[in-house]
Amino acid sequence: MKTNQNIILIGFMGTGKTAVGKLLARKLHRRFIELDRLIEKREKKSIPQIFSQKGEAYFRKVERKLLRNTTSMKKIVLATGGGMVLNPLNVRDLKKNGILVCLTASLGEIARRTSLNRNRPLLQNKNRFQTIKKLLKFRRPLYRKAADFFVNSSDKNARQTAALIMNRLEKK
Ligand code: S3P
Repeated sequence: MKTNQNIILIGFMGTGKTAVGKLLARKLHRRFIELDRLIEKREKKSIPQIFSQKGEAYFRKVERKLLRNTTSMKKIVLATGGGMVLNPLNVRDLKKNGILVCLTASLGEIARRTSLNRNRPLLQNKNRFQTIKKLLKFRRPLYRKAADFFVNSSDKNARQTAALIMNRLEKK
C-alpha cells in the first residue's frame, strides 16, 4: 500500500470498527487508536458514565477535541465512534490527512451485535430496534457524504472485512 494517509474507520455502532481496525493496524504495521478509549482515558470515566453524568453534548465536545489531536498523528489506523459524523467539522479535519472507510451492516446485524454489550448509552432503552432504525435513517446520508469508500461487514468476520479493506487500499 502506497498511501501515507491515516486510515479512518467510520460507521454506525456495531459495524465492527474496533475489531476490524485492530486487525488492519496489525496487517499494516501501524498504530491503532480508538477515539472512544482516548475519551475515557481523558475523562477518567466510561462512555456510559460520561453520558449519564455530563450529557451527550459534553461527550461530543470532548470527542471533537481529541479527534482534532489525532489529525497531527501520522500513519495511524483510527476507529471513530458512530456519532463522529454528526459534526461536519470532524469530517473536514479527518479528511485533511485521512482516508475515510465506512463500515456498514444490515439493521438486523447491527441489532444483534449491539445487543451483546451495555456500553452504548444511546441504545439503552426498551425500543432498541426502533432507536437504531431512527438513528440510522438520520445518519446514513452523513456517512455517505463523508466516506471515501464503503465495506459491508454483514456476513463477514473481522478478518474478512479487514482483507476487503486492504484490497481497496492497495489501489490507493
Ligand atoms: C456513539 C457510538 C459509540 C460511542 C458513543 C456514541 C454514537 O461508539 O462513541 O456511545 O453516537 O453512535 P461505537 O460506534 O464504537 O459504538
